[in-house]
Amino acid sequence: MTVKWSPDSWRGKPISQVPDYPDQGALEAVEGRLRAFPPLVFAGEARRLTQRLAEVAEGRAFLLQGGDCAESFAEFRADNIRDTFRVLLQMAVVLTFGAACPVIKVGRMAGQFAKPRSAPTETIEGNELPAYRGDIVNGIEFTAAARRPDPERLVQGYNQAAATLNLLRAFAQGGFADLHKVHRWNLDFLADSPQGHRYAELADRLTETLDFMSACGLTGDTHREIRETDFYTSHEALLLVYEQALTRVDSLTGQWYDCSAHMLWIGDRTRQPGSAHIEFLRGVQNPLGLKCGPSLEPDELLRLIDTLNPANVPGRLTLIVRMGHERVEQKLPPLIRAVERAGAKVVWSCDPMHGNTIKSPSGYKTRPFDRILAEVRGFFAVHQAEGTYGGGVHFEMTGQDVTECIGGAQAITEERLADRYHTHCDPRLNASQSLELAFLIAESLKKERSATARRIAQAS
Ligand code: PEP
Ligand code: CO
Repeated sequence: MTVKWSPDSWRGKPISQVPDYPDQGALEAVEGRLRAFPPLVFAGEARRLTQRLAEVAEGRAFLLQGGDCAESFAEFRADNIRDTFRVLLQMAVVLTFGAACPVIKVGRMAGQFAKPRSAPTETIEGNELPAYRGDIVNGIEFTAAARRPDPERLVQGYNQAAATLNLLRAFAQGGFADLHKVHRWNLDFLADSPQGHRYAELADRLTETLDFMSACGLTGDTHREIRETDFYTSHEALLLVYEQALTRVDSLTGQWYDCSAHMLWIGDRTRQPGSAHIEFLRGVQNPLGLKCGPSLEPDELLRLIDTLNPANVPGRLTLIVRMGHERVEQKLPPLIRAVERAGAKVVWSCDPMHGNTIKSPSGYKTRPFDRILAEVRGFFAVHQAEGTYGGGVHFEMTGQDVTECIGGAQAITEERLADRYHTHCDPRLNASQSLELAFLIAESLKKERSATARRIAQAS
């Protein structure tokens, strides 16, 4: 029996990770304003993403999802958005061309503001204040005034998401993403690095292929896929007052969509069956992600799948596995077997970031790049052994030349973390590390796809 859902039915359920707004009246007034604002995405776009993800679930495409851990109000600039977007384009080209596989591009952008925290407060030198919960909730500065949750930030978050999305749409469809510009996506500071060279070689080959295609009559004029790209947005649906205010009925289908982004995911800390977050997300028709951390048991996963995707629609649900490099090979197989036994249609994606966070001796949160790569390799190896399809990756990155994750071709050391450590939350891959990761995934994907092709040939 399904219990009736409404956009506010989550309010009666146990909830975690909620900010303590001192002025409820002010919060309600802002919610009312947001409800009157235009939606940021259209239901039809979210449906289209579900269809594209269904192709991933069926092993015919690959999901590339990445961007900031936490977008910030202070770093809201066109060059930041452009550089992150172009590294995602570069990664997508490496995967599409390197593994001959269509790539669905989804940004952790245009709304990735709210952050779950491991503790509700932070104490520095005996002074205890509420934890920073992302710019849409409170400020990162360690003062009582900054840390007080301020509902006006919801409006600022909405406005920044709208402007970011506008620029992303312009980049995706206004010429920047034209495959003929593939060389220009290489960032200046990368051009002279091993990853930059490797990318330039691939871009040369792609340009030759485009010349050949053009000689055959396939050009940007005849094929929009050459001239522009589809780019989707996503974030963790954590701050439910915001998500509810942007949830609207689609006039075509009469169904509810959370119009704050195309895709929403549920974090590892808020995914308990029966929780407010699960309740809210089961009722919106957007494609959903579910973070699967090491504490998730197979029977609990099956219950969640049942709640979130009762009609077993392929593309509706993406399982974002984040076990840590040491645990993925032990923890993932039982989940895959349970899902296979139940016949559930899901996309399997690998988040190699969140299970591999450590504190450096100097106090910085960091992630060793070799552990990130090890988790990606482990994820694909498990899928190969189980005969299932590892269909995507989910990671935190930026187009800036930051020093937040140690290792990689630039060999960032612990001592160098302080050089350019800019993240508002978790450490991100920089442009060079992101490209290195893309080349590794392209190789794994190529192997995976030829193994799948062999299996299909043997079966027929
Ligand atoms: C995140 O994606 O930034 C995050 C907090 O992840 P998780 O819920 O997997 O810890
Ligand atoms: Co994060």
